[in-house]
Amino acid sequence: MDSKKDMIALVTGGAGGIGSETAMTLAREGARVIIADLYEKVEETAEILSRKSGGKITGLRVDVSDFDSCTKLRGEVEKVVGERRMDIIVNNAGITRDALLTKMDFATWDKVIRVDLYSAFNVTKNFVEWMIERKFGRIVSLSSISWKGNVGQVNYSSAKAGIVGFTGSLSRELARYGITVNAIAPGLIDTDILKSIPDKIMQGIIEKIPMRRLGKPEEVASLISFLTSRDTSYITGEVVSINGGFNF
Ligand SMILES: NC(=O)c1ccc[n+]([C@@H]2O[C@H](COP(=O)([O-])OP(=O)(O)OC[C@H]3O[C@@H](n4cnc5c(N)ncnc54)[C@H](O)[C@@H]3O)[C@@H](O)[C@H]2O)c1
Repeated sequence: MDSKKDMIALVTGGAGGIGSETAMTLAREGARVIIADLYEKVEETAEILSRKSGGKITGLRVDVSDFDSCTKLRGEVEKVVGERRMDIIVNNAGITRDALLTKMDFATWDKVIRVDLYSAFNVTKNFVEWMIERKFGRIVSLSSISWKGNVGQVNYSSAKAGIVGFTGSLSRELARYGITVNAIAPGLIDTDILKSIPDKIMQGIIEKIPMRRLGKPEEVASLISFLTSRDTSYITGEVVSINGGFNF
């Protein structure tokens, strides 16, 4: 695996499970990492992650579901980094608000689509020009095993299927600039996002996973590290699964 020395990386949702591990992995490999998160203590979280990883991680507060908030983020990143440069974007921030369609109100639908899908547009649109100018970039967006459909997740599945379409289209648009665009589709990964699933249901799910366990955030971070390497320059437009053999 190549080093990420001198690379600038933006990880949205970097105060959470997968995002924090990804930020630390990229930082250990030498990247200058910005975590962008709605969490009010994102700056303190970045300091902790910097200490743990021995790398350089800065926290900036943003609501990725809001376009103007992402434009403001671009200005803040420029100040922190000292130049208009972005090598790696990890569109990772996401939420779930599960309910059967019959019980789902409009606000619940709307919220998840905004955070899980609009975010990819809002963030990528604001930073992609910097990648195009330098003729290099690595964009990885978090889809999910649920993109193909899952009971109680019409909002989340629609957003995560949207990420697959976004990735396919954008990979074709940006290939000529040396920018790769990929999505990953994790199965169940042990983070706070799973907290709303009752223990009994979770045990039933784990029994169906061939590896009989949840994935670890660091296992997802390794995949993101691979897809954002300088070496992986010919992989684009892919949706890579990481699920312990579990498929719906
Ligand atoms: N954990 C899993 O089982 C799993 C499986 C498939 C896909 N994913 C996806 O992986 C990504 C990361 O999930 P996780 O498991 O680490 O979840 P998590 O809840 O641990 O972390 C999500 C982070 O996103 C941040 N966030 C939420 N809304 C935001 C907003 N509007 N603006 C900025 N930041 C916001 C949260 O503050 C949090 O720090 C998500 O996109 C999720 O859908 C997770």
